[in-house]
Amino acid sequence: MASLTIRKLDETVKAYLRLRSAGNGRSVEEEVRVILGELIQGRPELSGAPISPSSAEAPAEAAPTINASGERNVTLIIGGGIAAFKSLELIRRLKERHIDVRCVLTRAAQQFVTPLSASALSHERVYTDLFDPGSEFDAGHIRLARECDLIIVAPATADLMAKMAHGHADDLASAILLAANRPILLAPAMNPLMWNNAATRRNVMQLRRDGIHMIGPNAGEMAESNEAGVGRMSEAIEIAAAVADILRPPQPRPLAGKRVLITAGPTHEAIDPVRYIANRSSGKQGFAIAAAAQAAGADVTLVSGPVDLRDPAGVTVIRVESARDMLHRVEAALPADIAIFAAAVADWRVANEGEQKMKKTSAGMPPLQLVENPDILATISKLKEKRPPLVIGFAAETEHLIDNAKAKIARKGCDWIVANDVSPATGVMGGDRNTVHLLTHDGEEINVDSWPVMTKEQVAAELVAKIAKTVEKSS
Ligand code: CTP
Repeated sequence: MASLTIRKLDETVKAYLRLRSAGNGRSVEEEVRVILGELIQGRPELSGAPISPSSAEAPAEAAPTINASGERNVTLIIGGGIAAFKSLELIRRLKERHIDVRCVLTRAAQQFVTPLSASALSHERVYTDLFDPGSEFDAGHIRLARECDLIIVAPATADLMAKMAHGHADDLASAILLAANRPILLAPAMNPLMWNNAATRRNVMQLRRDGIHMIGPNAGEMAESNEAGVGRMSEAIEIAAAVADILRPPQPRPLAGKRVLITAGPTHEAIDPVRYIANRSSGKQGFAIAAAAQAAGADVTLVSGPVDLRDPAGVTVIRVESARDMLHRVEAALPADIAIFAAAVADWRVANEGEQKMKKTSAGMPPLQLVENPDILATISKLKEKRPPLVIGFAAETEHLIDNAKAKIARKGCDWIVANDVSPATGVMGGDRNTVHLLTHDGEEINVDSWPVMTKEQVAAELVAKIAKTVEKSS
């Protein structure tokens, strides 16, 4: 359907519209909608599709912002900082996700990127001036604030955040942010000293209280030479993922009200203060399950051995070192409705752990005596009280996968086992994909459901969906 550009209308019509819209307290665009609605009202050819005055008078912000092809719209405010160049990549990342982008550049941002480059990437006109006669004759800042699904500020400078926290509106960016009735996502970027300054800390706290979403800043090197710390803007790909999360329609929450306890990662068993026994587990599968269970509405506690992964949002993460620490923290986290033991717990620890670093001596190699670690899965599965109603173990095998997993489910006393082949050739340990077989009890029999190769996130989503179905049936 053709769109009407008000700017191109005859001057007398525009003058009339301005007067009438100001008198009615509407934007010019809304006023045109109302006039068209009144004009069409009661036409016999429209008897099957009445246009009620109330819908014609609906404020602009109520209009759906998803365009004809189902795409979403965001207003991207680019603040003035060296990280502004990353916002150009962000435009590209958002377009890849079929998100339309309208850019606003602050005066300072134009010192780092040009409106032309933002316009070329977004395929849209770029806005820079609060008093631009081309867009502001019908309160364009109100449209930029409301005719979108989300407002992103990247980079969000200390100054922009201070203006937001205090409700200033002396330029286009701050006026949009003050007039917004859409969610706002900030990607802060500034020098670490500015980020840690008491004034910024206060502003960040206020903005969080106001319900503003934030991503980052990350730790790393600064543009200023010899400076490092927290203050780098998140990468474009991280911001785009956060945007997709915010724009995603609310998901069903089948595990709402359920407590889920998960173990993940390896354990480290000390030999002496500087050495330990460990394994190659990355923790990725356990972390992915924690994120999926949280997304399904569960209250999730994740007890993890040492891994190089960020805490999944909304999950209580308890970091531990050894198998014995892990068992204590798991026991302390009970009761739970569902427990999933994805950790690759070290089977043995050193009996004679050295208090000091072991030294090489002429007596030869020091003997390492091993003792067995507690089996956390078996301990929890066999609890008389507080046993979670659904206990799920993993079986990491390098041969006879199904037979070993069947033996494990019986030996450990758990309800389900997720069996995976962790031979080096599969790349499962440390990799991003997994091929699993879900073993469940079917009366006396063990049922084996073999899943195709999937990412660890997909395995997590499938497992959580299966859990949700079982929980639903039993409640
Ligand atoms: N597990 C545990 N505590 C241990 C050892 C294992 O909780 N001390 C759990 C794991 O988290 C997993 C399951 O038991 O859910 C099976 O772990 P796996 O390493 O496959 O088997 P093991 O019990 O170690 O037996 P084996 O080494 O003989 O295969």
